[in-house]
Amino acid sequence: MFAKIFTLLACLALVQSELIRVPLKKVKSARRATELNGKRQSLLGKYQSSAPTSANLKDAEYYGEVSFGTPPQTFRALFDTGSSDTWVISSQCYEFDCLFQSKYTAELSSTHKPNGTHIDMGYGGMESMSGFLSSDNVEVAGVTVTDQLFTEITDEMTFGDILSSLIGLSYKPVSNQVPMFMDNLFAQRTDLTPAFSFYLFKNSTGEYDGEMTIGGADPKYYKGDFKYFKVLENQPFWKLKIDKVILGSSMEVSNGSRTVVVDTGTDNMIGPTKLINKVYETIGATPVRNSNYYVFDCSKRSSLPDINFVINGQNLTLTYEDYTAEDVQSGVCQPLFDTMDEDVENNISWIFGSPFIKKFYTQFDLKNGRVGFAELAE
Ligand SMILES: *[C@@H]1O[C@H](CO)[C@@H](O)[C@H](O)[C@H]1NC(C)=O
Ligand SMILES: *[C@@H]1O[C@H](CO)[C@@H](O)[C@H](O)[C@H]1NC(C)=O
Ligand SMILES: *[C@@H]1O[C@H](CO)[C@@H](O)[C@H](O)[C@H]1NC(C)=O
Ligand SMILES: *[C@@H]1O[C@H](CO)[C@@H](O)[C@H](O)[C@H]1NC(C)=O
Ligand SMILES: *[C@@H]1O[C@H](CO)[C@@H](O)[C@H](O)[C@H]1NC(C)=O
Repeated sequence: MFAKIFTLLACLALVQSELIRVPLKKVKSARRATELNGKRQSLLGKYQSSAPTSANLKDAEYYGEVSFGTPPQTFRALFDTGSSDTWVISSQCYEFDCLFQSKYTAELSSTHKPNGTHIDMGYGGMESMSGFLSSDNVEVAGVTVTDQLFTEITDEMTFGDILSSLIGLSYKPVSNQVPMFMDNLFAQRTDLTPAFSFYLFKNSTGEYDGEMTIGGADPKYYKGDFKYFKVLENQPFWKLKIDKVILGSSMEVSNGSRTVVVDTGTDNMIGPTKLINKVYETIGATPVRNSNYYVFDCSKRSSLPDINFVINGQNLTLTYEDYTAEDVQSGVCQPLFDTMDEDVENNISWIFGSPFIKKFYTQFDLKNGRVGFAELAE
C-alpha cells in the first residue's frame, strides 16, 4: 500500500516537474544601432503611452522559435513579459516593411479558424501596429496550444527583419482582452506547473544565449532558494513594489516606495530620469553629444559601487559587472541604464530588463502570482 502511494507520489512529482525548454537566441546589433542613433522613443513609448501598451521591438534582445498552424509555419518570436498580445506578421501585410519578413499564411493551415476582429496595438503614439484576430494552433518547443487567438499583423512599424512574432507573457492582459498564450497553455496542459523561468546565459554557448523553461525552474541553473515577491494584483505586467534603491553603502536614489516591472522584452535597467541622472553623476557618466546615451572612463569601471534594489526588505544587488558594459573594441564603457519619466498611468517607475534577468534566474509564477529571483549556479 505505502509502496503504491510512494510510487504514485513519485510519479506525480515527476509529472509535476516536467520542464519544457525553449532555447533563446540574442538579437545582435539591433540594439546598439538604435542606441547610437539615439532612437529611444519606441522604448519609452512602451510604457508612456496613452494607447494600449505593447512591446518595444527595436530593443528586443532574446528570441525563440514558435510555430503557427498545421503543418507548422515557424517564426522567430520575442517572449515578452512586458506585454500580453500574441501576434505574427500576416501574409496579408502588403507594406514594404513586410516584404522580407516571414509571414503567416492562414490558407496553408488546416487548423486556422477565422475571426476578423480588428486589433490596434499602440507604441506610445509614435508608431503602431494593427491587424485582425485569427485562431490557430501555436506551438512552442513541442507543446501545442490549440485554438489560440492572435493578431495577424497587416500594418506594422519598422522593426528590422529578425522578429516576425511576439508572445506576450504579462501576468494579466495589458491591452486587448484576448486569452493569453500561457493561460491557454496551462489550461490545456494541466500536468505542467503554471510557471515559467528565464535564464539568460552570461556566456553564450555560441548556439544559444538563454533558455525559457515552461513548467517551473530548472534546479541546475540556480543555487540556494528563490526569493519570491508577490505581484501587485489587479494590475497588468509583472509588477512589484520596490521600497528603495541604494547606490553604494548608503546613497539613496529613490523617491519613496514605487513599482518595478520585470520585463524580458527590455534590454536595459530603466528608472526615473531624475534618479538615473543621479546615478550617472555619481559614477561619472557623461552624455555623448547629440545622443541619449552615456559613457564613462573604463579605468574606473571596477571601482563603481554596487546598486541595491530593495524589495520587501531584501537586497537584490547588481555589481558594476552587471549594470555596465565594456566594448573592448572601441574602449567605450556604458552604464546599462535608460531613463523615463515615471509612468503615472501605469504606475511604473522602474523596469528591470535583461541586465537584471542575466544576474538572477527569474521565475514568473502564474499560479501564486509572484516573481522569484535566484542566484545563478556557478
Ligand atoms: C473573435 O474573438 C473575440 C474574442 O474572443 C470574440 O469575442 C468574437 O466573438 C470572435 N468573433 C468571431 C467572428 O469569431
Ligand atoms: C565567461 O567568460 C568570461 C570571459 O571570457 C570568463 O572569464 C568566465 O570564466 C566565463 N564564465 C563561464 C561560466 O564560462
Ligand atoms: C542592503 O544594502 C544596504 C547598502 O549596502 C545595506 O546598508 C543594508 O544593510 C542591506 N540590507 C540587507 C537586508 O542586507
Ligand atoms: C518625488 O516624487 C514626487 C511625487 O511623489 C515628485 O513631485 C518629485 O519631483 C519627485 N522627486 C524626484 C527627485 O524625483
Ligand atoms: C502604485 O503602486 C504603489 C506601490 O508602490 C501602490 O501603493 C499604489 O496603490 C499604486 N497606485 C495605483 C494607482 O495603482
